[in-house]
Amino acid sequence: MGDHPDTDQLRVVVGITGGIAAYKAVGVVRALVLAGHDVHVVATDAALRFIGRPTLEAISRNPVDTDLYEGVAEVRHVAIGQAADLIVIAPATANTIAKLAAGLADDLLGNTVLASRAPLVIAPAMHTEMWQNPATVANIAVLRSRGVTVVGPAVGQLTGTDSGPGRMVEPDEIVSVALAVLRPKDLLGRRIVVTAGGTREALDPVRYIGNRSSGKQGVAIALAAAVRGADVMLIGANLEVAVPTSVRVEHVVSTLELANAVASAAERADVVIMAAAVADYRPESVAESKIKKELHGDRLSLELVRNPDILAGLAETRRAGQVIIGFAAETEPDAAALLEIGRAKIARKGSDYLLVNRVGWHEGFATDGNSVVMLDRHGDIVMEASGSKSSVADKLLDVLARAR
Ligand code: CTP
Repeated sequence: MGDHPDTDQLRVVVGITGGIAAYKAVGVVRALVLAGHDVHVVATDAALRFIGRPTLEAISRNPVDTDLYEGVAEVRHVAIGQAADLIVIAPATANTIAKLAAGLADDLLGNTVLASRAPLVIAPAMHTEMWQNPATVANIAVLRSRGVTVVGPAVGQLTGTDSGPGRMVEPDEIVSVALAVLRPKDLLGRRIVVTAGGTREALDPVRYIGNRSSGKQGVAIALAAAVRGADVMLIGANLEVAVPTSVRVEHVVSTLELANAVASAAERADVVIMAAAVADYRPESVAESKIKKELHGDRLSLELVRNPDILAGLAETRRAGQVIIGFAAETEPDAAALLEIGRAKIARKGSDYLLVNRVGWHEGFATDGNSVVMLDRHGDIVMEASGSKSSVADKLLDVLARAR
């Protein structure tokens, strides 16, 4: 096991128990397999009433184990747990949580957990009443005291018409948290502010000028920093992705709102990462009521005024030791020319680092992958990464952890 779970293959046991969220466990298995890990599913009988074994075998690329009395000659009830580097149980029902707290081993999953010294990560999923029941509360406390990592549950719509805490956390977040358990907490105590998304400038009560940034890269950075121990504040501008449960967030709309939020958050931050796509201009005036065609005829001109450059401002006023990081989203197709644009931009902005990435009609924004080059203030390349937005996030944070 090395320092980067994306590149080292782990043997991961995914335990699936009998809740409706079992269908989302497929996403957990798939994300782990795509990250290159060897995934072994141990499903309870109840889980298999919600989701089919063929699906799990196809996605995990391994046989699915359920029965304590199959393969007894291989002593599988202990072998699976002994061989695991990591065990993730998603969803973990109230019943399973109670069994884990008591140390019961009446099925293959219980045996696997008891026979393992690997870290255990559970993603509870149940109705709010069950989650808040004193029995479950006590069981969770017991598990936490033994070092079990509990991801979620999230607050939201549950299976019926009810909503509240109890929803299983989304698969990508479960996987990020689970893999992070094996990493050193190399950003422990670091106060990191991350901006994400794209600002919108109102024209009138119903229209705005905006950009296509989804916020995925910034949210991935915030999550990766949180799981590596940082104290993270996310400032989200019109995010199109869910905010992880482990991250504090403040939502903003316009550039001026973002500027204000960043200014106050930056006061106590060690690092500020400006991943948001910020509008350089805003309409000089915002119409009080909807702009009407009858008043403007065939042409309409908008007068725009410059927004403050938040990144340049942060770089100028930063405290000693504070690290300021920007992004440059450029449409330049030529790699060498792209780098030169990046070098000119970091010189202009004065930040400590700049991550340059190409964007276009089909690249960068709203996609799951990214490809970046990270420059330091001398314009030297300190990191290059290409892959999922969470792997890019981790490579960026590796630079911060090293530079500490
Ligand atoms: N940025 C900012 N405030 C602005 C514009 C951009 O803080 N008013 C930040 C972005 O969050 C990003 C970096 O500056 O981290 C670069 O953004 P980009 O849009 O690529 O650069 P611009 O300053 O707009 O430069 P140009 O007009 O040359 O593209």
